[in-house]
Amino acid sequence: MGNFTVEPVKFQEGRLIILDQTRLPSEEVYEELQTKEAVWDAIYKLKVRGAPAIGVAAAYGLCVAVRGCGEDDLTGFSQCLREAAAYLASARPTAVNLSWALTRMIACFDRMQPRSVQQARRILLEEADRIREEDEAACLAMGENGLSLLEPGMGILTHCNAGALATSRYGTCLAPIYLGQERGYGFHVFADETRPLLQGVRLTAWELQRSGVDVTLICDNMAAAVMAKGWIDAVVVGCDRMAANGDGANKIGTYGVAVLAKEHNIPFYMYVPTSTIDLAAASGSDIRIEERSGEEIRRLWYEKPMAPEGVKTFNPAFDVTPARYITAVITEKGIVRPPYGENLQKLFRK
Ligand code: MRU
Repeated sequence: MGNFTVEPVKFQEGRLIILDQTRLPSEEVYEELQTKEAVWDAIYKLKVRGAPAIGVAAAYGLCVAVRGCGEDDLTGFSQCLREAAAYLASARPTAVNLSWALTRMIACFDRMQPRSVQQARRILLEEADRIREEDEAACLAMGENGLSLLEPGMGILTHCNAGALATSRYGTCLAPIYLGQERGYGFHVFADETRPLLQGVRLTAWELQRSGVDVTLICDNMAAAVMAKGWIDAVVVGCDRMAANGDGANKIGTYGVAVLAKEHNIPFYMYVPTSTIDLAAASGSDIRIEERSGEEIRRLWYEKPMAPEGVKTFNPAFDVTPARYITAVITEKGIVRPPYGENLQKLFRK
């Protein structure tokens, strides 16, 4: 990433601090989250967002939440911990990293059987640190794995933001771009704007530009034209939850990009750390898709409303790309090819 680094979530001297991504790119403002309500709100409002970063924020958020759990009674603490985890898990439904991280924190508490509340707090913090460190290592491994599929000088299209801002470091699908940049690959990246919350415009364009990567911003409806010109050699995207059969939920609009890529014979790579694979979901239809306020379509980002007052809206935050459109799934443990039903299972047996 050159000299540029960004930490969307950090835990320093007992303080949980996030970069408020709703204010980028015009303002770089860090905010301390001191209560479980503040953590919930930051996740719900996408101040911290992107599946892995949500998981890390939730793990540290749970350490913050249990500060209100009392000092003496371990049984009461255990109950309070579980209630706080259930509350945080309700902030956003689609990215499985949220419930995955919280479940892992509780499993750690149960396994370690702390003898005091003080020890329990220490154990939880150590597990949150491990979740963050493992995420960073997974991103680096996905970067190396993904880079093996790319050639110098390629044109690469991405949708939404699965970069450094969405993870502990490097990103998932932007990790190979950063590694390639360090090694002189000279990629040309096209970033979809990603309506309605503009993660492509505000976040992907920001972090790639800061890192010195050649990035060109396009509106979502321009992807087909750019592909038809022959400017795109590969599509790379992140994932919020992958089902056992390889269907992958990601930011709304990803499915359309995948269909366009297939039509133009362009490989479509989905970057999915194993923490984002949910084998309990048999297929994409088992993935709950978050629906958000219609105001995000009607007026957010506009100086005045752009839609007629009272018009109906439909605002799903994610869509599911069927497995048949995904050329390969890039994980930290290796590259998975179809048939995904079989090969994703094998990955977990490794
Ligand atoms: O609504 P967001 O901004 O949290 O959506 C983010 C995405 O869809 C990302 O592509 C996904 O979480 C993967 S992040 C490495």
